Amino acid sequence: MHPSPPPLRASTDQAPGITGITTHLDPGWSDRALREEVQQAFTSLPKELSPRWLYDQRGSELFDQITELDVYYPTEAERLLLDQHAEAIVSMAGVDTVIELGSGTSDKTRILLDTFVSDGQLKRFVPFDVSESMLTSALVLLGDRYPGVSITPVAGDFNLHLDQLPEAKSRMLVFLGGTIGNFYPEERETFLRSVAAVLQPGEWFLLGADLVKDPARILAAYDDVEGSTAEFILNVLHVLNRELDADLPVENFEYVVTWEADDERIDMRVRAKTEIHAFIGALDLAVVFDEGEELRVEISTKFRPPALAAELEAVGLRVRHQFLADGDEFGLFLAQRA
Ligand code: SAH
Ligand code: AVI
Repeated sequence: MHPSPPPLRASTDQAPGITGITTHLDPGWSDRALREEVQQAFTSLPKELSPRWLYDQRGSELFDQITELDVYYPTEAERLLLDQHAEAIVSMAGVDTVIELGSGTSDKTRILLDTFVSDGQLKRFVPFDVSESMLTSALVLLGDRYPGVSITPVAGDFNLHLDQLPEAKSRMLVFLGGTIGNFYPEERETFLRSVAAVLQPGEWFLLGADLVKDPARILAAYDDVEGSTAEFILNVLHVLNRELDADLPVENFEYVVTWEADDERIDMRVRAKTEIHAFIGALDLAVVFDEGEELRVEISTKFRPPALAAELEAVGLRVRHQFLADGDEFGLFLAQRA
């Protein structure tokens, strides 16, 4: 693994305005990480990749498109919760710095930021994402909306770089969109432990999570007739072709999605429509997919509030309030580091 850059120490004395993107991702990093992962994924069974690779420029655009689909309920459900409860959140959790992990376009986050700003508390906002193209879109949306706030975007991996988050007098880490569902249980535990480890006692964590509900409604959100989700998931093959000089025939794969009832999660894969022989140039690796063989690209776990609250509590994040949408559409969990 490459050496980590030194921690960012700049904190509450940042000048207002938007700075350039600070990156924790050294130029060859994603290349090396992708090579290692693909080597491992394609030489063992079942084949599987992590969802981090979905968010190249096209993938980021496709995700944005997904959030606008009527069937993809999480975005609007979370937006509504933020609309309804931002004031309560801000009055419970007075902080001067908001750090958003996996921030994407930070679109919904503006509801929270607006409320912090009206309350006169917010000095700094740090959108943190692995995708520079997402961060760039976020900066366009944030524009000059917060003239008194210092906006300091960070490109980093929330599985690797949480120990380098900027310090401040009082911080809230925000993790929205249900991205917590994209971890496997053991990864989720590691992630939550690292969140708890970087927070000082009394600092805050706001988590948005999608909840277990009628499986048909959940499945519909990941199987839109417009085909945006299929394109988003299949796009990972284009990423491999481009980044690793591979020749995977994307048109010979199809998107497959299932609801895994035992694990209460959506499982998203690409499946070979025929037997496929391909070559991954950067790895000098010949790969074969049997007809019907699949590559898992992403899971999306749905949660039961008491179980998720127990996971937070178990790592020292005291749940101070749960805001749950009617019909278990979505949940926001406001926790404080013990
Ligand atoms: N929070 C936003 C975006 C969710 S999409 C919303 O609620 O709409 C998931 C985001 O997480 C993407 O922007 C993606 O680039 C980012 N992401 C995925 N894996 C990541 C990782 N390992 N580290 C940091 N960001 C990551
Ligand atoms: C980012 N994440 C929460 C999305 C989800 O719903 O799991 C990613 C996604 N994949 C397909 N559609 C949306």
